Amino acid sequence: MATHARPVERTDALRQAAAAAGELVAALSALAPAVAGEGLPAESISQSFFRVREGELSDQQAALHGVLVVHRGLDDLCEAPLSGSDLALEAAGMRQAVLDLTGAEPGAAPDSVPPVAVPEPAAGAALETVWSARWLIGHQVHVLFNVCAAVAVADATRHLRHGDGDAALLRLADATVYVRGFPAAMTHASTVPADYYMAAIRHTMAPPSVDVPLSGRQHRGYKLFRAAMKDLLSVVPDSYEQLAARAPELAEARGALLEADIVDGERHVTLAYSMVHLHRSIAQKPEGPDNAVAELRHMRHRRAAKYASLIRFGDHYIADAVAGLSHS
Ligand code: HEM
Repeated sequence: MATHARPVERTDALRQAAAAAGELVAALSALAPAVAGEGLPAESISQSFFRVREGELSDQQAALHGVLVVHRGLDDLCEAPLSGSDLALEAAGMRQAVLDLTGAEPGAAPDSVPPVAVPEPAAGAALETVWSARWLIGHQVHVLFNVCAAVAVADATRHLRHGDGDAALLRLADATVYVRGFPAAMTHASTVPADYYMAAIRHTMAPPSVDVPLSGRQHRGYKLFRAAMKDLLSVVPDSYEQLAARAPELAEARGALLEADIVDGERHVTLAYSMVHLHRSIAQKPEGPDNAVAELRHMRHRRAAKYASLIRFGDHYIADAVAGLSHS
């Protein structure tokens, strides 16, 4: 008789996953305690605001800190009203991060995973406290994905340089899981009421609360990812058609990664519109030509133009328009 996986209620599944991540945190902490992040200097005001630090870590410490981020993220997702499709993308990114950081083999069937004790949910904190914490927690998951994606893309590039196409394909697929997770984590951070963001969070990211206004451009993990993407495309600069003719699987894997990167840019536009409507961002000069949405649209267009010839369904209208603008 065919067996079917028992459907699990969404919050129960998230509580199970959070409890499992909590057990992993305990097991990893037993080997060596977590590094006290507050004791490390922040590299930027943005890092200090989002409670992110950089430092040399052993493999065990890197795994512990990654799983701590995943644990907090899962805990918050038990309550955050994230859509089902984003929940799946963020969970896939978290799973990949745990695999990459612990070096565990994937593949244990859900039925064979031993049950974990799920603690009773803690008494509810005030909603405002939850929303303010969520803004940081979602950003931290985003940073984790940025850094893991940068490593996966850099691995793929190295494998390509050494002629190991199969290994490159695997790491490109891992990178794509993370990049598809970027807008999911960004949306998770933003599952706070837009009114609350405008009234209570936004001003804490601008002077006088901080010395300089914060902008997404300051995220160093994200810059690492962009640099890794640039290096990858310097190794495989071929058009989609050329690459598909000599290495079809590589053309598809590169295409999936680039599509995910374009969609991330597209979703940032609509997310910013939902949060700040037509306002200029806090990081923009009041007299500048653009508001946040327009700036993010330009970012999307530049990326789509750059990738148009590299993917199967490229945005050639935009590529032509951008080429025309740069010649005029
Ligand atoms: C969790 C991740 C992120 C979230 C939730 C997020 C959300 C937002 C929001 C709400 C705004 C409007 C800001 C305001 O005026 O209040 C914005 C603007 C912007 N974001 Fe992001 N963002 C994220 C990551 C990034 C990253 C990694 C970049 C990297 C390029 C970026 C680039 C920008 C830019 C260029 C703007 C408009 C101009 C500016 O503020 O500099 N964001 N974002």
